[in-house]
Amino acid sequence: MGCEHVAIIMDGNGRWAKAQGKPRTAGHLVGADNVRTIAIAANELGVKYLTLYAFSTENWKRSADEVNYIMKLPAVFFKKYMQEFLDRGYRMNIIGELDKLPKNTEKVLRDAMDESRNNTGLNLNICMNYGSQREIVLAANAYAKDVLEGKKELGIDTDEFEQYLMTKDFPPVDLLIRTSGELRISNYLLWQIAYAELAFVPVSWPEFTPEVLKRCLDEYSGRDRRFGGVKSE
Ligand code: FPP
Repeated sequence: MGCEHVAIIMDGNGRWAKAQGKPRTAGHLVGADNVRTIAIAANELGVKYLTLYAFSTENWKRSADEVNYIMKLPAVFFKKYMQEFLDRGYRMNIIGELDKLPKNTEKVLRDAMDESRNNTGLNLNICMNYGSQREIVLAANAYAKDVLEGKKELGIDTDEFEQYLMTKDFPPVDLLIRTSGELRISNYLLWQIAYAELAFVPVSWPEFTPEVLKRCLDEYSGRDRRFGGVKSE
């Protein structure tokens, strides 16, 4: 079975920078450049959806300097690479509560989505102010509201509930990768990874190369995904 949807927790930017005697933010800048490198590689390896965790609902707890830096990164990133992404036919999707971001950050992200709306190539999904528990609570509230307003019946199934999630336009995650050796999910795509294969790699995000991605995909293709069924003969 091909790997259509890869999600990545891009961890270890801060430690990578510290190890080189640089501020944590230097790691985020290199990390953003690596988003381009890995998007190109993923596309060449046949991935159709690449969903990256750039900023979580919990990341607001970091220092104001670091948060401000990450909030400015989308503008830097898209100024450098948007034209190339358009030329390559990539479609940008931003997942998260965008209306709670600084206004300029929100605008840059919405513009990237608008400009690439008609593209049919790689879906490059960037999660910004995203948290999976929050996403599910928002979905439950939206469904409850529809019931109260008489637009939905009580007793929907999983497929119908998925239509309330921020990821309703995307297939489930096939492979979740986390860099930097931590063995955690950190409130990322909890619903969407229900049957995903997991890969935890010991390198930090700035060191995550196309070769490492290829190794993860090769390992994935050797796995026997059963989705709760029995082993195929
Ligand atoms: C986790 O590493 C990384 C983040 C919280 C930020 C990730 C952001 C990027 C890679 C930039 C992408 C942005 C755009 C707009 C493309 P960490 O800081 O938690 O590292 P540590 O665990 O070593 O502290």
